[in-house]
Amino acid sequence: MEVLGIDVGGSGVKGIPVDTKDGKLLKERLRIPTPQPATPQAIADTVAEIARHFKWRGIIGVGFPAAIRNGVVETAANIDKSWIGTEINTLFKETTGCETFSINDADAAGMAEAKFGEGKKFKKVMVMLTVGTGIGSAVFTKGKLVPNTEFGHLILKNMVAEHYASDAARKNEDLSWDEWGMRFNEYLHLLERLMYPDRFILGGGVSKKFDKFKHTLDVHAEVMPAKLLNHAGIIGASIAAKKALK
Ligand code: BGC
Repeated sequence: MEVLGIDVGGSGVKGIPVDTKDGKLLKERLRIPTPQPATPQAIADTVAEIARHFKWRGIIGVGFPAAIRNGVVETAANIDKSWIGTEINTLFKETTGCETFSINDADAAGMAEAKFGEGKKFKKVMVMLTVGTGIGSAVFTKGKLVPNTEFGHLILKNMVAEHYASDAARKNEDLSWDEWGMRFNEYLHLLERLMYPDRFILGGGVSKKFDKFKHTLDVHAEVMPAKLLNHAGIIGASIAAKKALK
């Protein structure tokens, strides 16, 4: 089935129609800079612009950077605070005219990796971490997701962990890959002390640069970059929407 997958990020909103059977991308990606402030109406208008661009009439899956419980946005770390309490699927349906299902962006990326990427056929405990403006997390066991973990918000060095170890922290503080890698390694150790997963899969921008910092990591769990790289969120949002709406 073809689903329009959309990923709402801190700097860009990206969309591509996806074939949910094999995760194939069916068109050229469209990226629109995230409107500022990233209010519900501004993001909903951007999502509608993407749907119009692809002349979309089918269902839409959206990966969104917040915990979403029963269609209601519960957190707003890197988006406008007015999102909290918003019925996200109702809002996107109003502006796009399409049935829409929204899921946490890291949960979406993890679903794609679990089905088509490094988590395929992996039955043990795997944690997907998306490292970008924030740090998103998704936990799987036997390929099944426990939704809405917010491990980017654990406290590390008296700070919210994503402020210390995200890709945005690396860029803002002009850290070398070694310096940042050592911070990220501390973060992985914190997670390892709390839950002892078997595998960490890293998504987001840093997944392409894994070779630059992998030597700084020494947790016991396996650590590997996401196979689907930056498209995992879009592909996963499509799969999740198909599951929820069909
Ligand atoms: C949000 C998460 C999100 C992550 C990555 C965090 O700040 O709280 O819900 O998954 O950023 O975008």
